[in-house]
Amino acid sequence: MSLIKDKIDPEKLPQHVAIIMDGNGRWAKSRGEERTFGHKNAINAVRNAINACNEINIPYLTLYTFSSENWNRPAEEVDTLMNLLTETLLVEADEIFSKGLRMHVIGDLEKLPPLVREQLLQVIDLTKENTKGNLVLAISYGSQKEILNAVKNISSDVKEGKVEVENIDEKLFESYLYTKDFPPIDLLIRTSGEIRISNFLLWQIAYAELQFLNVLWPDFTKDIFFQCIVDYQNKERRYGLTGEQVKIQ
Ligand code: IPE
Ligand code: IPE
Ligand code: MG
Repeated sequence: MSLIKDKIDPEKLPQHVAIIMDGNGRWAKSRGEERTFGHKNAINAVRNAINACNEINIPYLTLYTFSSENWNRPAEEVDTLMNLLTETLLVEADEIFSKGLRMHVIGDLEKLPPLVREQLLQVIDLTKENTKGNLVLAISYGSQKEILNAVKNISSDVKEGKVEVENIDEKLFESYLYTKDFPPIDLLIRTSGEIRISNFLLWQIAYAELQFLNVLWPDFTKDIFFQCIVDYQNKERRYGLTGEQVKIQ
């Protein structure tokens, strides 16, 4: 029985949590191992995050799994990451399904090895009727590219007369993002102690609460996640208003 979990107010849950799962390489190095050893030991932490969300019914969890910039890492590390993704999907697909989770992927899937892409599409298809929660994997994802794509697509729709320039507002813009079907991020967590965003969901975190943890990703536990939720619930989200205005809302 987790005492931290008991402190969570089920009425004030974030609707969408995003995690930058960072620190696998350093975790491995501190043990005198290769970086890829850290990636292999990251799977359990991923499971912890998914299970924690599932247990308290957070409807959307987005995991930064592989960035567009991560393609520039040594080929051997990229290969290991892609293989791990395929292996993990194979093993975990049933588990994701039986938890009632619907899986989504955001990012430039064209760049992925065909086998990885196919497997992702299979799990997306397998889980498409599930409604208990949504697991969004950001793979080959870069936020600036996502925003540029939206701008390009809006521009061509303007050119074709499908969109009026005067009608371009936040809502319309969001409908061109990969995340169009998901609510904005309420809570962004980054592990590993780095205090940066690394091209992740720049538009979608406009009013997110940010938490940077001094924990390397393979050490991430359910209780750490629950503590993040408790800390989130202790924040006053003002959206530009005064504290007094927020209290009488
Ligand atoms: C995060 O851990 C995993 C990916 C980016 C794929 P890192 O591999 O970035 O680990 P560090 O940050 O070098 O320790
Ligand atoms: C961000 O971590 C990407 C993922 C966690 C998938 P990085 O390790 O790539 O970020 P930087 O390079 O430290 O900014
Ligand atoms: Mg890193």
